[in-house]
Amino acid sequence: MESIIITIDGASSTGKSSLAKAIAKHYGFTHIDSGAMYRALTFYAQDKKLLNNRLFDVKTLISRLPTIDIDFSKNDEITLNGKTIEDEIRSMEVSNKVSIVAKEPRLRQFMVAKQRHLGAKGSVVMDGRDIGSVVFPNATIKFFLEASTEVRINRRHAELVEKGENVSVEEVHTNIEKRDHIDSNRDDSPLIVPENAIVLSNDKDGLMHIFTLATTEIDKHLT
Ligand code: CDP
Repeated sequence: MESIIITIDGASSTGKSSLAKAIAKHYGFTHIDSGAMYRALTFYAQDKKLLNNRLFDVKTLISRLPTIDIDFSKNDEITLNGKTIEDEIRSMEVSNKVSIVAKEPRLRQFMVAKQRHLGAKGSVVMDGRDIGSVVFPNATIKFFLEASTEVRINRRHAELVEKGENVSVEEVHTNIEKRDHIDSNRDDSPLIVPENAIVLSNDKDGLMHIFTLATTEIDKHLT
Protein backbone atom coordinates (compact mmCIF):
# COMPACT_ATOMS: atom_id res chain seq x y z
CA MET A 1 0.00 0.00 0.00
CA GLU A 2 1.27 3.51 -0.79
CA SER A 3 2.20 5.69 2.20
CA ILE A 4 -0.50 8.09 3.31
CA ILE A 5 0.24 11.49 4.82
CA ILE A 6 -2.54 13.20 6.75
CA THR A 7 -1.93 16.68 8.08
CA ILE A 8 -3.91 18.42 10.82
CA ASP A 9 -3.20 22.08 11.45
CA GLY A 10 -4.84 24.65 13.69
CA ALA A 11 -4.33 26.94 16.65
CA SER A 12 -3.66 25.83 20.21
CA SER A 13 -6.20 23.53 21.89
CA THR A 14 -8.43 23.06 18.88
CA GLY A 15 -8.18 19.30 19.48
CA LYS A 16 -5.57 18.51 16.80
CA SER A 17 -3.61 15.98 18.81
CA SER A 18 -6.70 14.12 20.04
CA LEU A 19 -8.01 13.83 16.48
CA ALA A 20 -4.57 12.84 15.17
CA LYS A 21 -4.21 10.12 17.82
CA ALA A 22 -7.68 8.72 17.10
CA ILE A 23 -7.04 8.64 13.33
CA ALA A 24 -3.61 7.05 13.79
CA LYS A 25 -5.07 4.33 16.04
CA HIS A 26 -7.97 3.63 13.67
CA TYR A 27 -5.79 3.14 10.57
CA GLY A 28 -2.60 1.89 12.24
CA PHE A 29 -0.64 4.97 11.14
CA THR A 30 2.10 6.74 13.12
CA HIS A 31 1.14 9.93 14.94
CA ILE A 32 3.68 12.73 15.05
CA ASP A 33 2.96 15.72 17.26
CA SER A 34 5.13 18.44 15.71
CA GLY A 35 4.22 20.88 18.50
CA ALA A 36 5.86 18.50 20.96
CA MET A 37 9.08 18.82 18.93
CA TYR A 38 9.08 22.64 19.25
CA ARG A 39 8.27 22.22 22.94
CA ALA A 40 11.21 19.81 23.34
CA LEU A 41 13.60 22.33 21.79
CA THR A 42 12.23 25.02 24.10
CA PHE A 43 12.68 22.75 27.11
CA TYR A 44 16.28 22.07 26.03
CA ALA A 45 17.00 25.82 25.73
CA GLN A 46 15.51 26.49 29.19
CA ASP A 47 17.28 23.55 30.76
CA LYS A 48 20.65 24.67 29.33
CA LYS A 49 20.03 28.28 30.48
CA LEU A 50 19.89 29.62 26.93
CA LEU A 51 16.34 30.94 27.41
CA ASN A 52 14.66 32.72 30.27
CA ASN A 53 12.55 35.85 30.76
CA ARG A 54 15.37 38.18 29.80
CA LEU A 55 17.54 36.22 27.41
CA PHE A 56 17.28 33.99 24.38
CA ASP A 57 20.70 32.91 23.12
CA VAL A 58 19.48 31.70 19.76
CA LYS A 59 23.01 31.65 18.29
CA THR A 60 24.22 29.09 20.82
CA LEU A 61 21.02 27.07 20.44
CA ILE A 62 21.56 26.93 16.66
CA SER A 63 25.18 25.83 17.15
CA ARG A 64 23.98 22.98 19.42
CA LEU A 65 21.41 21.61 16.95
CA PRO A 66 23.69 18.79 15.71
CA THR A 67 23.85 17.46 19.29
CA ILE A 68 20.09 17.60 19.91
CA ASP A 69 18.22 14.37 19.20
CA ILE A 70 14.44 14.70 19.35
CA ASP A 71 12.53 11.50 18.65
CA PHE A 72 9.36 9.53 19.40
CA SER A 73 11.12 6.22 19.90
CA LYS A 74 9.83 5.28 23.38
CA ASN A 75 6.18 4.11 23.07
CA ASP A 76 5.40 7.17 20.96
CA GLU A 77 6.52 9.43 23.79
CA ILE A 78 8.83 12.28 22.92
CA THR A 79 12.46 11.91 23.90
CA LEU A 80 15.28 14.43 24.06
CA ASN A 81 18.69 12.81 23.72
CA GLY A 82 17.14 9.52 24.85
CA LYS A 83 15.23 10.84 27.88
CA THR A 84 11.42 10.94 27.95
CA ILE A 85 10.24 14.53 28.52
CA GLU A 86 6.51 14.14 27.88
CA ASP A 87 5.52 15.85 31.17
CA GLU A 88 8.23 18.53 31.15
CA ILE A 89 7.23 19.91 27.73
CA ARG A 90 3.59 20.52 28.76
CA SER A 91 4.48 22.95 31.58
CA MET A 92 3.32 26.58 31.46
CA GLU A 93 7.00 27.60 31.52
CA VAL A 94 7.51 25.90 28.17
CA SER A 95 4.12 27.09 26.82
CA ASN A 96 5.04 30.67 27.65
CA LYS A 97 8.22 30.55 25.54
CA VAL A 98 7.66 28.02 22.78
CA SER A 99 6.34 30.50 20.19
CA ILE A 100 9.46 32.66 20.60
CA VAL A 101 11.61 29.64 19.80
CA ALA A 102 9.33 28.48 16.97
CA LYS A 103 9.53 31.73 15.06
CA GLU A 104 13.27 31.39 14.38
CA PRO A 105 13.77 30.30 10.75
CA ARG A 106 16.99 28.31 11.38
CA LEU A 107 15.30 26.35 14.14
CA ARG A 108 12.27 25.71 11.93
CA GLN A 109 14.51 24.42 9.11
CA PHE A 110 15.95 21.86 11.51
CA MET A 111 12.45 20.77 12.61
CA VAL A 112 11.01 20.60 9.11
CA ALA A 113 13.89 18.35 7.97
CA LYS A 114 13.25 16.06 10.95
CA GLN A 115 9.49 16.01 10.31
CA ARG A 116 9.99 15.10 6.64
CA HIS A 117 12.41 12.37 7.66
CA LEU A 118 9.87 10.94 10.14
CA GLY A 119 7.15 11.21 7.49
CA ALA A 120 9.20 9.21 4.99
CA LYS A 121 9.08 6.07 7.16
CA GLY A 122 5.46 5.08 6.36
CA SER A 123 1.89 6.35 6.73
CA VAL A 124 1.64 9.20 9.22
CA VAL A 125 -0.76 11.66 10.79
CA MET A 126 1.13 14.81 11.72
CA ASP A 127 -0.40 17.75 13.55
CA GLY A 128 0.91 21.29 13.96
CA ARG A 129 0.76 24.76 12.45
CA ASP A 130 2.58 24.47 9.09
CA ILE A 131 2.29 20.78 8.29
CA GLY A 132 -0.11 21.06 5.34
CA SER A 133 1.30 24.39 4.12
CA VAL A 134 5.09 23.87 4.40
CA VAL A 135 6.17 20.44 5.68
CA PHE A 136 3.93 18.30 3.42
CA PRO A 137 2.28 20.57 0.85
CA ASN A 138 1.48 17.45 -1.24
CA ALA A 139 -0.09 15.50 1.66
CA THR A 140 -2.81 12.97 0.82
CA ILE A 141 -5.42 14.77 2.94
CA LYS A 142 -5.18 18.01 4.90
CA PHE A 143 -7.42 19.07 7.76
CA PHE A 144 -7.62 22.40 9.53
CA LEU A 145 -9.29 22.52 12.94
CA GLU A 146 -11.09 25.52 14.33
CA ALA A 147 -12.71 26.24 17.71
CA SER A 148 -13.74 29.39 19.54
CA THR A 149 -11.21 31.01 21.87
CA GLU A 150 -13.48 30.34 24.85
CA VAL A 151 -13.77 26.63 24.12
CA ARG A 152 -10.01 26.39 23.58
CA ILE A 153 -9.15 28.16 26.84
CA ASN A 154 -11.52 26.01 28.87
CA ARG A 155 -10.28 22.82 27.18
CA ARG A 156 -6.61 23.62 27.88
CA HIS A 157 -7.30 24.78 31.44
CA ALA A 158 -9.17 21.53 32.24
CA GLU A 159 -6.30 19.46 30.76
CA LEU A 160 -3.69 21.27 32.86
CA VAL A 161 -5.73 21.06 36.07
CA GLU A 162 -6.21 17.34 35.48
CA LYS A 163 -2.42 16.97 35.23
CA GLY A 164 -2.06 18.73 38.58
CA GLU A 165 -0.73 22.04 37.24
CA ASN A 166 -1.73 24.98 39.43
CA VAL A 167 -2.78 27.43 36.73
CA SER A 168 -5.59 29.98 36.44
CA VAL A 169 -7.99 30.41 33.51
CA GLU A 170 -6.53 33.93 33.06
CA GLU A 171 -2.99 32.57 32.65
CA VAL A 172 -4.16 30.07 30.06
CA HIS A 173 -6.12 32.81 28.29
CA THR A 174 -3.06 35.10 28.12
CA ASN A 175 -0.84 32.26 26.91
CA ILE A 176 -3.22 31.16 24.16
CA GLU A 177 -3.79 34.71 22.90
CA LYS A 178 -0.07 35.49 22.87
CA ARG A 179 0.79 32.29 21.02
CA ASP A 180 -2.06 32.83 18.51
CA HIS A 181 -0.65 36.25 17.78
CA ILE A 182 2.99 35.19 17.37
CA ASP A 183 2.19 31.97 15.46
CA SER A 184 -0.15 33.75 13.02
CA ASN A 185 2.04 36.80 12.39
CA ARG A 186 5.57 35.41 12.13
CA ASP A 187 7.37 35.75 8.77
CA ASP A 188 8.39 32.11 8.46
CA SER A 189 5.55 29.58 8.10
CA PRO A 190 2.73 31.43 9.87
CA LEU A 191 -0.40 29.54 10.88
CA ILE A 192 -2.70 29.57 7.84
CA VAL A 193 -5.42 27.35 6.39
CA PRO A 194 -3.37 25.29 3.91
CA GLU A 195 -4.46 25.14 0.29
CA ASN A 196 -7.01 22.32 -0.23
CA ALA A 197 -7.46 21.77 3.52
CA ILE A 198 -10.80 20.55 4.83
CA VAL A 199 -11.87 22.87 7.64
CA LEU A 200 -13.51 21.16 10.62
CA SER A 201 -15.13 23.00 13.51
CA ASN A 202 -14.48 21.46 16.92
CA ASP A 203 -16.56 23.75 19.12
CA LYS A 204 -19.15 21.68 20.85
CA ASP A 205 -19.92 18.35 19.18
CA GLY A 206 -16.77 16.70 20.48
CA LEU A 207 -14.08 14.38 19.19
CA MET A 208 -16.46 11.67 17.89
CA HIS A 209 -18.12 14.17 15.57
CA ILE A 210 -14.93 15.43 13.90
CA PHE A 211 -13.48 11.91 13.89
CA THR A 212 -16.49 10.71 11.87
CA LEU A 213 -16.17 13.62 9.42
CA ALA A 214 -12.41 13.08 9.04
CA THR A 215 -12.55 9.30 8.58
CA THR A 216 -15.32 9.67 5.98
CA GLU A 217 -12.91 11.82 3.95
CA ILE A 218 -9.96 9.50 4.51
CA ASP A 219 -12.00 6.41 3.56
CA LYS A 220 -12.83 8.02 0.21
CA HIS A 221 -9.09 8.10 -0.52
CA LEU A 222 -8.42 4.59 0.66
CA THR A 223 -11.11 2.88 -1.45
O1 CDP B 1 -0.71 21.87 22.26
P1 CDP B 1 -0.86 23.25 21.74
O2 CDP B 1 -1.94 23.31 20.77
O3 CDP B 1 -0.90 24.26 22.81
O4 CDP B 1 0.44 23.64 20.94
P2 CDP B 1 1.48 22.68 20.30
O5 CDP B 1 0.89 21.99 19.11
O6 CDP B 1 2.10 21.86 21.36
O7 CDP B 1 2.54 23.72 19.75
C1 CDP B 1 3.29 24.54 20.61
C2 CDP B 1 3.88 25.67 19.80
O8 CDP B 1 4.82 25.15 18.87
C3 CDP B 1 2.92 26.49 18.97
O9 CDP B 1 2.29 27.52 19.72
C4 CDP B 1 3.84 27.05 17.88
O10 CDP B 1 4.54 28.18 18.33
C5 CDP B 1 4.84 25.94 17.70
N1 CDP B 1 4.56 25.08 16.54
C6 CDP B 1 4.96 25.53 15.30
O11 CDP B 1 5.45 26.64 15.17
N2 CDP B 1 4.83 24.73 14.21
C7 CDP B 1 4.29 23.51 14.31
N3 CDP B 1 4.20 22.74 13.23
C8 CDP B 1 3.85 23.05 15.57
C9 CDP B 1 3.98 23.86 16.67
